[in-house]
Amino acid sequence: MHTGRHFLQIPGPTNVPDRVLRAIDMPTIDHRGPEFGRLGLEVIEGCKAVFRTGNPVIIYPSSGTGAWEAAILNTLSPGDRVLVAETGHFATLWGRMAAKLKLEVETIPGDWRHGADPGEIGARLAEDRGHVIKAVMVVHNETSTGVTSRIPDIRRAIDAARHPALFLVDTISSLGSIDYRHDEWGVDVTVGGSQKGLMLPPGLGFNAVSDKALAAARGNSSRRSYWDWHEIIAANADGYWPYTPATNLLYGLRESLAMLQEEGMDSVFARHDRHAAATRAAIRAWELEILCVDPYAYSSALTAVVMPEGHDADRYREVVLNKFDMSLGTGLAKLKGCVFRIGHLGHFNDLMLMGTLAGVEMGFALAGVPYRKGGVGAAMAVLEHTVPPGKHHMKDEDAA
Ligand SMILES: Cc1ncc(COP(=O)(O)O)c(C=O)c1O
Repeated sequence: MHTGRHFLQIPGPTNVPDRVLRAIDMPTIDHRGPEFGRLGLEVIEGCKAVFRTGNPVIIYPSSGTGAWEAAILNTLSPGDRVLVAETGHFATLWGRMAAKLKLEVETIPGDWRHGADPGEIGARLAEDRGHVIKAVMVVHNETSTGVTSRIPDIRRAIDAARHPALFLVDTISSLGSIDYRHDEWGVDVTVGGSQKGLMLPPGLGFNAVSDKALAAARGNSSRRSYWDWHEIIAANADGYWPYTPATNLLYGLRESLAMLQEEGMDSVFARHDRHAAATRAAIRAWELEILCVDPYAYSSALTAVVMPEGHDADRYREVVLNKFDMSLGTGLAKLKGCVFRIGHLGHFNDLMLMGTLAGVEMGFALAGVPYRKGGVGAAMAVLEHTVPPGKHHMKDEDAA
């Protein structure tokens, strides 16, 4: 029996603002009628500001995994070779999907504690003089590890190698939380999902596309129908879809886009940076280890905390859930039991962060995890001493 609100501090799905819930709580309308057409046009246009693109953004009634599949099936043909940077569990899963879809997958191995290495990607592409590699696939924010990859640097590495490979980027846990620019950074397909920085329930997947990606989609032989961009883009011209869209989630999307717009994207990113910095201060004060070992790759959306030797992260998470009604993220795949993840993205503020960190700290004592007291105070000091979002863009000044 719990009173008050549940703390959903996994790195997505995230807390859905009441404003968005109210927007979704409306009668479902005729998805071929004029009112829907206006809604469709509004959200399709609104998404462009979040992806920072002037090109089409395709919205699917799907999870992020569906949008992954759409990116692959529209641009690549069976037998094509792709280069995947193994940053963690989600990069691995995306690569596995590519293999299931009959692509030849070449992986650049990683230790799950660093971002994708632009130098290694560039070197591999430079070797590929025959241009056998058709796409480079990178997860911008690896949700399993709390590590962010440097997308502009990877773009520069692809260009420096004078390689024509398409650049496919997963922003499922960075969109609306961490600075991202589809057009400026020369990304060909950006994959997104609704349930993280966009502050929506799960159920929408996104593909932002470049002209080069659209051209590739015209010339490849992958079997696809539901995921096919061109039919959707054609119907989208009037605000409609070739099938029944997720009407009520689109009401929610209209509201969440308005919220992001009102706050201003730079302020949204600064808010996430600041909460992430405060979280890291807490972890250091507890004398625990942050999984990400490159300060320039710290994720502003989530932080993965390494459990002290001999202590099981999932048992600790269970104590926190039972005692404080707070869900923390589990360790995925090879990190199971070794880390827990604190989500600090989406609809979030200073006091939600302090409540979260208080629950984490009190949980250590209850679960018998060795730690030094004072993490909450250290985080509070960061919040007190940093300029609130909207005034100043803070970026990793705690990196030293
Ligand atoms: C980075 C990343 N990519 C892909 C996915 C898969 O998305 P979904 O679970 O919505 O299918 C997730 C889910 O958490 C993710 O974090």
